[in-house]
Amino acid sequence: MKTLIKNGTIVTAGDTVQADVLIENGKITLLGKDLPAESARVFDASGKLLLPGGIDVHTHLDLPFGGTLSSDDFFTGHQAAAFGATTTHIDFVIQPKGGSLKQGVDIWHEKSVNKAAIDYGFHLAITDLRAEVMAEIPSLLNEGITSLKLFMAYKNVLQIDDTTLFRAMLTAAEHGMLVMVHAENGDVIAELTDKLLAEGKTAPYYHAVAHPAMAEAEATGRAVALAGIAGAPLYVVHMTCEEAVEQLALGRAKGFPVMGETCTQYMFIFDEDLKRPHFEGAKFVCSPPVRKPKDAPVLWRSLANNTLQAVSTDHCPFWFSGGIQGRIAGKELGLDNFAKIPNGMPGIEDRMAVMWHHGVNGGHFSPNRFVEITSANPAKIFGLYPRKGCIAVGADADIVIWDPNLEHTLSAKTHHMRTDYNVYEGMTVRGWQTHVFLRGHLIVEGDSWLGHAGSGQFLRRSPNGAVL
Ligand code: URP
Ligand code: ZN
Ligand code: ZN
Repeated sequence: MKTLIKNGTIVTAGDTVQADVLIENGKITLLGKDLPAESARVFDASGKLLLPGGIDVHTHLDLPFGGTLSSDDFFTGHQAAAFGATTTHIDFVIQPKGGSLKQGVDIWHEKSVNKAAIDYGFHLAITDLRAEVMAEIPSLLNEGITSLKLFMAYKNVLQIDDTTLFRAMLTAAEHGMLVMVHAENGDVIAELTDKLLAEGKTAPYYHAVAHPAMAEAEATGRAVALAGIAGAPLYVVHMTCEEAVEQLALGRAKGFPVMGETCTQYMFIFDEDLKRPHFEGAKFVCSPPVRKPKDAPVLWRSLANNTLQAVSTDHCPFWFSGGIQGRIAGKELGLDNFAKIPNGMPGIEDRMAVMWHHGVNGGHFSPNRFVEITSANPAKIFGLYPRKGCIAVGADADIVIWDPNLEHTLSAKTHHMRTDYNVYEGMTVRGWQTHVFLRGHLIVEGDSWLGHAGSGQFLRRSPNGAVL
């Protein structure tokens, strides 16, 4: 089965070129001018751009968290991702407490294998690094898993101490693996949370008060220093604020192998949004929390100048009004106590369009840099390049036909994420997909879903990813 995409402008991290793209058996086999249609199914992309499918390396589908489950599973989350021009994601396996890493991996394969509709990989979030679990880390390479996540926050639930983090870094570096950290000082957060609750300060806004920017900066600086000492590649997830980015920049200036991402929402939602009436602020409760408007320009600049290498979503959706109409519990769990609000926001469907509209149309960076931070860098850092993240001969034909003039208004009424709200409700963006191909299969055409549960492939990733 051959597919030919004609007359489009290919945008990759490095180049912008006009060329036709021939796809055979899921791979790109030829790029060139005026390629013959022969027996191919032909798509005309005149006036449109061809982008590599988006890669979101920070998602939580079907995650047991905060006394409930994140509300998208591996089918609804994948369908939503595809409608948002994302064709690959990497989800976090959570090691069961007291269990092995392999048990966690098996659980995540069970959740995903029959539902997956886009390609996906796994990171391993370690919650309990006993000696035998440390010894198990290298075996993850046989599972195609090359990145570990450790939490410096969520005290008594997921938080690890510095010894554990440092040991994990040494082991990871020895085996060409990447350590990712959720960088917040969990001890400080636990103290502040108790104090605020004791004072009767239970509303969503106090979640942000309990998670100060300096608690993120302190943990970021600590992780960066430990990575520098260990000589271990580090990737700091969901960075939110100037204070933390400064710590990353300091490490990079010293030549430490440290990288970071931010997430789309941190450029648009701020702490004042947590004060929205009728508990609506709970929609935006996540950790680290949304910050001050002054932090947004720092994040844009850091994405543009490569202090940050990627933008992800941390897609971790919960119903705003859960526990009714067959829905599992959601944000209402924290009506009387901000510490019980499940942490996380939906966003897997919105990232590409929001980043294009505000990043490219808004003049923060070029279309090539957009591709770099949404697809190419994630592929390089996480061992998927050049199979993913580029439009080149030999790559998987994960291609988005992107109309830079097509407008779309983001809304919970039309999105595909299984949530009853959209963080960007009412935002009109210019730049939207018309066709999304996954390994040469057309899975989205306009508003039509053409994909299939079970057709997404698990991606076995290579170790020794790039440090950018
Ligand atoms: O609030 C968040 N970020 N929820 C998902 C879990 C995490 O910390 O990444
Ligand atoms: Zn986190
Ligand atoms: Zn996360």
